[in-house]
Amino acid sequence: MDLLIPDKVHDESRQGEALILEPVGKHNGRKLYIESYGCAMNFSDSEIVASILAEKGFETTSDFNNADVIFINTCSIRENAEVRVRNRLKEFAGAKFRNPGMVVGVLGCMAERLKAKFLEEEKLVDVVVGPDAYRDLPNLIEQVDSGQRAVNVLLSREETYADISPVRLNSNGINAFVSIMRGCDNMCSFCVVPFTRGRERSRDAYSVVAECKDLFDKGYREVTLLGQNVDSYKWTKPHPALSKGEGSEEDGKVLSFGEDLGEAPEVVNFANLLEMVALVSPELRVRFSTSHPKDITDEVLHTIAKYENICNYIHLPVQSGNSRILDIMNRTYDREWYMNRIDAIRRIIPECAISTDVITGFCTETEDEHNDTVTMMDYVKYDFAYMFKYSERPGTLAAKRYADDIPEEIKQRRLAQIVAKQQEYSFYRMQARIGKVEKVLIEGYSKKSDKDYCGRSDQNAMVIFPVSENYKPGQYVNVLVERTTSATLIGTIVD
Ligand code: 5AD
Ligand code: SF4
Repeated sequence: MDLLIPDKVHDESRQGEALILEPVGKHNGRKLYIESYGCAMNFSDSEIVASILAEKGFETTSDFNNADVIFINTCSIRENAEVRVRNRLKEFAGAKFRNPGMVVGVLGCMAERLKAKFLEEEKLVDVVVGPDAYRDLPNLIEQVDSGQRAVNVLLSREETYADISPVRLNSNGINAFVSIMRGCDNMCSFCVVPFTRGRERSRDAYSVVAECKDLFDKGYREVTLLGQNVDSYKWTKPHPALSKGEGSEEDGKVLSFGEDLGEAPEVVNFANLLEMVALVSPELRVRFSTSHPKDITDEVLHTIAKYENICNYIHLPVQSGNSRILDIMNRTYDREWYMNRIDAIRRIIPECAISTDVITGFCTETEDEHNDTVTMMDYVKYDFAYMFKYSERPGTLAAKRYADDIPEEIKQRRLAQIVAKQQEYSFYRMQARIGKVEKVLIEGYSKKSDKDYCGRSDQNAMVIFPVSENYKPGQYVNVLVERTTSATLIGTIVD
């Protein structure tokens, strides 16, 4: 298993909270169970799926044994993500045996990667649906009802689900993910995403802002704008004669927006979009992920610095600290370029927290090259890092071009070394906050005790502090940090 973060899984104990399906009128008497693996984008997609099916009268359930339709939204990023899904499917077999009319569907990246092969390999599965085909789900379910098995893995150059207002699954009513683009055009040689999620496309800026405004009006206080590479967000405003101020989707169902949302420029880049979302309300925190070192501009950094409600936190995956490895990873930047971007962040947003992703044991990586990653960690002193052993993915450029030639024990040893290094720096960053006052958005009670609240600081650190009757979840408080654990700041409210 990868260290520090295993792939996120829907927390089954919280599934009950998902049932915010303000029913859209009709009920068809059927229940949907949906479970997600992989990145935040996948979790966000499951909300879109739930919304599409709620429109057709499905209710959600937290118990797959009770479901008429089981969907598993899958991830292909590393082999172990796929293995986990295969094992989970075995657990659904009993439920399907008891209820042969049950529809079992595989959605997401693994569906896209394996396509109809999935139906051959897993007899349990009735339907295989890729990430751009979710609008077709009601038809595909009908097809299965009529006795066929169904596949739709068409990728699209346009689909952004801009008009679909997602139901929020497992929501705390305070933080929400908002997808701003889909797909990826960077051909990093290790990565399966361009094959599973298709070409990059940006969502209508107005629909993004409208969704954020709607969330704010419903009481949400933090949005995280999601994309594989948010810095290459680019949306061109359609000609006024086409748009009528309602967005650009052909079926006219685009989320409408109020006049108070202001005018977007003709071409909206990521800095512009950040600004538009920040202006929804100073009380709405804005986060975003993932930034790309080759594309993050000073304009974006200045926009972050300009607005108090855009959080000082950037996830900037480095992958490797060595220029030759970066080159064969096809990252299109080198060590110096990355350091230059770090310097720019430190110059323009001095208090900014920075996190990263690292891969150890990529094809042909020598000990010296690995040490360049270690010294990069010394240079940046990341607040947080997600660290992985290289896992060869079929069909990727690296799988075609380079041998996966670093032995497992060496990958493991290098991983352990950088994990230990990161623990030092995470601790160092946490310690540096002691004695400081953090503005915290209260998210709820701490997991361990209902005498404590928990919430995040601007820099994305988890903060725990005693409950005060004067403040409720969804409000901001100033917390004086008194001590830390390895991953949490602990303090008390100050006025
Ligand atoms: N092997 C290991 N890690 C990978 N990642 C992406 N593809 C692979 C792979 N084949 C990591 C990268 C990326 C993060 C989401 O997952 O670090 O930034
Ligand atoms: Fe996994 Fe990548 Fe697909 Fe997200 S986009 S689910 S991380 S393969």
